[in-house]
Parts: sequence; structure tokens; C-alpha cells
Amino acid sequence: MAVQISPSILSADFARLADEAKAVEQAADWLHVDVMDNHFVPNLTLGLPVVQALLKHAVLPIDCHLMIEDPDRYAPAYAEAGAGNVTIHAEAAKAPVRTLRAIRAAGARSGLAVNPGTAIEPYEDLLGEVDMVLLMTVEPGFGGQHFLDMVLPKIRRTRAMLASRNAHRGPEGREIWLQVDGGVSEETIERCADAGADVFVAGSAVYGAHDPARAVRELREQAERATARAAWAGA
Ligand code: DX5
Ligand code: ZN
Repeated sequence: MAVQISPSILSADFARLADEAKAVEQAADWLHVDVMDNHFVPNLTLGLPVVQALLKHAVLPIDCHLMIEDPDRYAPAYAEAGAGNVTIHAEAAKAPVRTLRAIRAAGARSGLAVNPGTAIEPYEDLLGEVDMVLLMTVEPGFGGQHFLDMVLPKIRRTRAMLASRNAHRGPEGREIWLQVDGGVSEETIERCADAGADVFVAGSAVYGAHDPARAVRELREQAERATARAAWAGA
């Protein structure tokens, strides 16, 4: 369960997306793309055509975070387009089993996200359909918000749920990752890693930095050090 860093292009220059993707391609593991529809969240960003355009230029696999109503209808197309991961929100999905299966059938990893105020326990039965759980550490919709410490206990509970599943998965079973998104920075990433996160989204902490690639490397080093000390990782 190596540390992975997924810079969010929400804080990048949208007029120069190919260059902004290139700026982190030697340092990061994923490129996090926030799709917002102005309904599920009060902000509008980009959709499938921009993801398709980015896929032609980006070397890194695309990590699509769909903050949209009706992901059951729209999510599979992102996987079919070639995204490496497609995450839907539990609060928005009406048929999550079908949708998560469609994402996987199209060849992508499947992700299930919950907002800060949404408990993970009601979704435990869905974990067999999921390759990653995304715990929002801010209310979704905007970059540059303050990290919510109230999510830390949920990160620990989710890691405990994933630990036994990951330990007992069969030869074909993919490891379920735990992603955090929102307010992740040099101030907060160690707390997240200590609690059990292994995939870290960072928008303003990467693209607000003078050298985005260096910011990614420094975040990774911090997360790796905190993980090495963490009780959950030694188990
Ligand atoms: C917020 C988005 C995040 C956002 C994070 O709704 O899902 O991916 O880009 O930005 P920072 O890292 O600045 O909080
Ligand atoms: Zn996001």
C-alpha cells in the first residue's frame, strides 16, 4: 500500500491544462480531475469532452472525481473514454452497484466518495464493488478550503474496515485504496497518513506552489514518513 499523490487540476490554469498536467508527470501517480455540475455542488467545472481532450495529452492516468447528480447515467462514459479511475458520490448514486460494475467493466478502477458529514458504515456492503474509498475532507465544490479534522476518526474507521478485506482478498482481488481530498497540504498530510489514507489529492498545495513537481515530491516524503510510523501500516 504505497503512498500515491493525485494532484487536482482544479487549482491549475484551465487554459493550459496539457502544460499543467506535464508539470507533475514525473512526480505524481495520478491526475485528479474534478467534474462538477452546479447541482450536486455549487460550482461548474468541466465534463467528458475536456477529459477526452486531456486523455490525449496526459501521461499520468486520470483520476475522475464526479461531483454530479445522476452518476448512474454519466459515470460509465468516463471509464469508457479511458480514465484510470472513476469515483462517484454515495450521496448521488441511486444504483451504485450497477454503476460501480459498469465502471469496472469498462476497464477503470471504481471509487466511492462520501462527504464529510456522511458516515461510511452504511456503505460497507458495497466495498466488494469498490477499488477505492474517497473520504472528502472538505465539503466538495471548491479548492483551497480548510481541512476538516472531524473526518480523521472516519479515516481510521475506514482503514480498519479495509484492512481485513485487503488482507483476505483472493489472488485476483485488487487492493482497496483510501483516498482523502480537500485541504491536504504540508500541514495536514501527515495526520491523514497516520489515520490510514494512502492516496492523497492535493490541489492548491501543488498548483499554488512555485514548483508543482517539487511540491508533490515533498508531500510524498511527508506521507511516507508518517505512514512508516503509523500503527495501521505495521499491522
Ligand atoms: C473539492 C475537490 C478537490 C479540490 C481540492 O471539491 O474535490 O479535489 O481540488 O483542492 P485543495 O487541495 O485545494 O483543497
Ligand atoms: Zn476532488
